[in-house]
Amino acid sequence: MTAAWDAARARALIEDHRPVRGGLLPALHALQRDFGYIDSAATPLLAEAFGLSQAEVHGVIAFYHEFRRTRPGRHVVRLCVAEACQARGAEALLAGLRERLGIGLGETSADGAVTLEPVYCLGNCALGPAALIDDELHGRLDGAGLAEAIG
Ligand code: FES
Repeated sequence: MTAAWDAARARALIEDHRPVRGGLLPALHALQRDFGYIDSAATPLLAEAFGLSQAEVHGVIAFYHEFRRTRPGRHVVRLCVAEACQARGAEALLAGLRERLGIGLGETSADGAVTLEPVYCLGNCALGPAALIDDELHGRLDGAGLAEAIG
């Protein structure tokens, strides 16, 4: 479970990484680990700490797709959509989520329960379709297994 945005906590996390050369990326990871996303209010704090413009910080956040800019749902499903998993049923899982929750890749369900994100190979190709659900690797996923994992 991630914490609600807290500027004081964010400042402390950023300060932990400020003395480190190349500390911006670790700071971003720390913010996302704690809050689940990078709040826009973090941008000026990061810019000041690392001697960058806000545009430069924004550019880094936008470049790396793993950084979220909005709060995720209570469950995060990172579904593999690479070739081997596509061949083993990832499309059917996507269709099921679209039908059941009304979401596609990169979206969060209206009730805030599930965020669906694409990933491109989790190294679990032989056991596809694969997904990380709340950071836990699942293989041979079917609709029932996915429904059970996200409640
Ligand atoms: S293609 Fe999905 S885990 Fe490798």
